[in-house]
Amino acid sequence: MKTSEPTINIIVAVADDWAIGRDGDMPWHISADMKFFKATTMGHSLVMGRRTWESIGSKPLPGRQNIVVSARLAAEWESAEESQAVAVDSLEKAFEVAEDSEIFVMGGGMIYRQAIDVADRLYVTHVHTVVPDADTFFPAIDPEVWELAERSNTSEDPRSGLKYEFRTYIRRSNDE
Ligand SMILES: NC(=O)c1ccc[n+]([C@@H]2O[C@H](COP(=O)([O-])OP(=O)(O)OC[C@H]3O[C@@H](n4cnc5c(N)ncnc54)[C@H](OP(=O)(O)O)[C@@H]3O)[C@@H](O)[C@H]2O)c1
Repeated sequence: MKTSEPTINIIVAVADDWAIGRDGDMPWHISADMKFFKATTMGHSLVMGRRTWESIGSKPLPGRQNIVVSARLAAEWESAEESQAVAVDSLEKAFEVAEDSEIFVMGGGMIYRQAIDVADRLYVTHVHTVVPDADTFFPAIDPEVWELAERSNTSEDPRSGLKYEFRTYIRRSNDE
């Protein structure tokens, strides 16, 4: 039934040139963005690719169901081996095993590219910089598909001096 379907959210921090990653890590560390990520996702189901799982130290983020998409890990992990993390071999299976009604797809680039076609909502931290040596990107947000629902004021990270803002986009309905 439609009403029991979970909401699929994407949560990402992107540069102005859509860069999201460099050498297996994020191009920046903005403390307020990490706090926003934690507060927004706490208690819900997280879906991430195998490389992003490795980038967070191959340890589950506490207080949330951690679902790792990986053909390799799905074959290696016994079902009960990891108490807070499960590995599945497709994005569809990740959505099936999610226990919470709010699913947060947290990257990386390969997973975002697949999830953006089925997501309902995007939580995007726009970091106002460009990353010339980036190797991982988020797909450009098409304004014909995504409506800007909320936008914070611009803040400045005290450590890096980077300016950033939080925006929420919702998928436009087809019958508009
Ligand atoms: N800025 C941000 O908000 C943000 C957020 C998250 C990550 N990142 C960055 O993004 C980068 C990592 O992204 P990435 O694109 O390299 O990797 P990724 O999406 O994290 O993981 C890719 C892996 O996921 C698995 N996978 C993906 N699609 C699959 C499918 N349909 N079926 C089965 N397995 C699938 C494969 O694992 P196997 O090879 O094991 O099968 C694949 O190698 C890092 O630099 C990270 O720091 C940035």
